[in-house]
Amino acid sequence: MNQTKDILILAIESSCDETAAAVVKNGTDVLSNVISSQIALHTLYGGVVPEIASRKHIENIDGVIQEALKEAAVKYNDIDAIAVTYGPGLVGALLVGLAEAKALAFATGKPLIGVHHIEGHICANYIQNPSFAPPYVALVVSGGHTHIVYVSDYGVYEILGKTRDDAVGEAYDKVARAIGMGYPGGPKIDAAAKRGNGDAISFPRVFLEEDSYDFSFSGLKSAVLNYINKANMTGQSIVAEDVAASFQAAAIEVLVEKTMRAAEQKNVQRIALAGGVACNSALRQQMQKICQRKGYLLSIPKPILCTDNAAMIGCAAYYEYQKGVRHGLDLNANPSLKLGER
Ligand code: KG4
Ligand code: ZN
Repeated sequence: MNQTKDILILAIESSCDETAAAVVKNGTDVLSNVISSQIALHTLYGGVVPEIASRKHIENIDGVIQEALKEAAVKYNDIDAIAVTYGPGLVGALLVGLAEAKALAFATGKPLIGVHHIEGHICANYIQNPSFAPPYVALVVSGGHTHIVYVSDYGVYEILGKTRDDAVGEAYDKVARAIGMGYPGGPKIDAAAKRGNGDAISFPRVFLEEDSYDFSFSGLKSAVLNYINKANMTGQSIVAEDVAASFQAAAIEVLVEKTMRAAEQKNVQRIALAGGVACNSALRQQMQKICQRKGYLLSIPKPILCTDNAAMIGCAAYYEYQKGVRHGLDLNANPSLKLGER
């Protein structure tokens, strides 16, 4: 890229339960990445309560942005563009970040760039490994999404498959709740599974049609819930660690196998992981093992860049900025925005 001046982007993310702001230089240099998590609050209810999320975003967003600017030691004048997640996500939560970004863009006269949340997750890989570049296959696994995406170029996405029901993170959270581990369940199942036996219980591996890259996790989730209910009804005790490990083994086997098949079909030897479930230690290990064996290049962001954050939104916006993408102040939140839709 023929670029002489540094491009500084102030990015805002509020699609779910994290209020986040970041300042990112030239796409991959993170000057600040501030995240105010509401997890403790939602834990009380066993999951994210949309109304509470929106209200908390409103309370937190100004402070989070000020902190991001301060940590990066920049002022509004130094910023080249304001980026914001405008979908998918909880509509009330998205609207808080979007209204803030639009107000800032209007007041400062800086361009506004709307970013797709999943595109942000994928782009976290460029922050982690600036030399990592398309083409590659990305496995996007989070609380709301499970996608296999072929990224042929920056900002060019082909969805090869996605979940037909529950997202894998959602299945983790529901199973954890059933075992009494609390919210968010992913990290708790991850930790418990390390002490359990993944072969203890045979839960279904749902591959769907032979050539499909789609997923289905509701059957696996139901199988785990049925197992727990049956044990409760017959007065048998369960070994929570074994249930966690066996559930995780079934989920990850399908994720890994389909991702590797997609890479083979697309004839690429590069794979990226993205989204909150990419924090999972077993998924990281198994992908590393198989990619090493096959000689594939694997990119996995560090955990703080896997879960929701604004640095990833600033990175995605940078490539859009370079292409000349600018949004008007009429940009609206789109809770079911499709990846690649502009
Ligand atoms: O990407 P993210 O922060 O938010 C969404 O866009 O959904 O992902 C949150 C999801 C939650 O379901 C959480 O349980 C899961 O990521 N998660 C994990 C782990 N850490 C977070 N799942 C499995 N293992 C983990 N270590
Ligand atoms: Zn996310």
